[in-house]
Amino acid sequence: MHLGQFPHTRLRRTRASAWSRAMVAETRAHPSDLIWPLFVTDGSNVEQPIATMPGVCRHSIDRLPDLARRAADLGIPCLALFPNTPADRRTPGGEEALNPDNLICRGMRAIKDSGVAIGLLADVALDPYTSHGHDGLLHEDGRILNDATVAILAGQALNQARAGADIIAPSDMMDGRIAAIRAALEADGHHDVQIMAYAAKYASGFYGPFRDAVGAAGYLKGDKKTYQMDPANAEEALREVAMDIAEGADSVMVKPGLPYLDIVARVKAEFRVPVFAYQVSGEYAMVEAAVAAGMMERDRVILETLTAFKRAGAAGVLTYHAPRLAELLA
Ligand code: PBG
Repeated sequence: MHLGQFPHTRLRRTRASAWSRAMVAETRAHPSDLIWPLFVTDGSNVEQPIATMPGVCRHSIDRLPDLARRAADLGIPCLALFPNTPADRRTPGGEEALNPDNLICRGMRAIKDSGVAIGLLADVALDPYTSHGHDGLLHEDGRILNDATVAILAGQALNQARAGADIIAPSDMMDGRIAAIRAALEADGHHDVQIMAYAAKYASGFYGPFRDAVGAAGYLKGDKKTYQMDPANAEEALREVAMDIAEGADSVMVKPGLPYLDIVARVKAEFRVPVFAYQVSGEYAMVEAAVAAGMMERDRVILETLTAFKRAGAAGVLTYHAPRLAELLA
């Protein structure tokens, strides 16, 4: 018999049965890969659906301990809190970011006081607090004032650390903010508070539903292209990551998620730090819209995308599907 009649290698052999596929799997997702973002709002016993994110709600602070317990029971290691700041607390200078009793600080204290063992990530940026919806201070000529913003961001980070934040996550994309925040944390004794830098954050259309969720959609004037990155650039993302690591970031984030998996993979290959990906509101909304239209199966695609993030090298993923994913992985 002539051997050349048959494929020398049959890659289908190891795929032929479930036990074999499990044995050769290179990537495995786990509930500990998940960070669950939650939206916080005023009031008591409020669970307010977000129209652009079907299945996601804004929660009042009294509901947070139960949500934290549910997450911890599911093996989710960390929550990320985002505030829906009332209109009368939004100002051009975003001073509410420095209020020790703002929604985020009260929310974090409520979770810490409940005794649930779970990490808390606090987003640093002024957009939930400014009347113009930008992440930084806006000069009257329309420019974003980098250095003046950085000074306030350091104060915001300190305010959050004092309220119990375990991870400070600057999402503002100002230059020099990681160094300023690290210095402020050290000087105030928060040596063990981590910084997860939104290092490569792109000016993206995929944030639309989030701006609805935090009530910023109606406020934002113009766009964020002078501080968030151009989707055309990858080399620049590596420079952003290098800069944030040099300034003291413990881990870095790439955002949005799926359209930027190439960035996740390149950052992972070039730097020895944990890389996280944020599967953002618009990515969530796309899946939910397709599922609602009967076009895809939710459980299957959310597990597949989580696996894709892990395969690309992500240490973890911020995703609104976190609780369902944790159930599926249990
Ligand atoms: C604020 C911030 C944004 C997101 C996280 N932090 C929105 C923005 O930059 O406009 C988006 C998250 C999401 O879309 O799920 N700086």
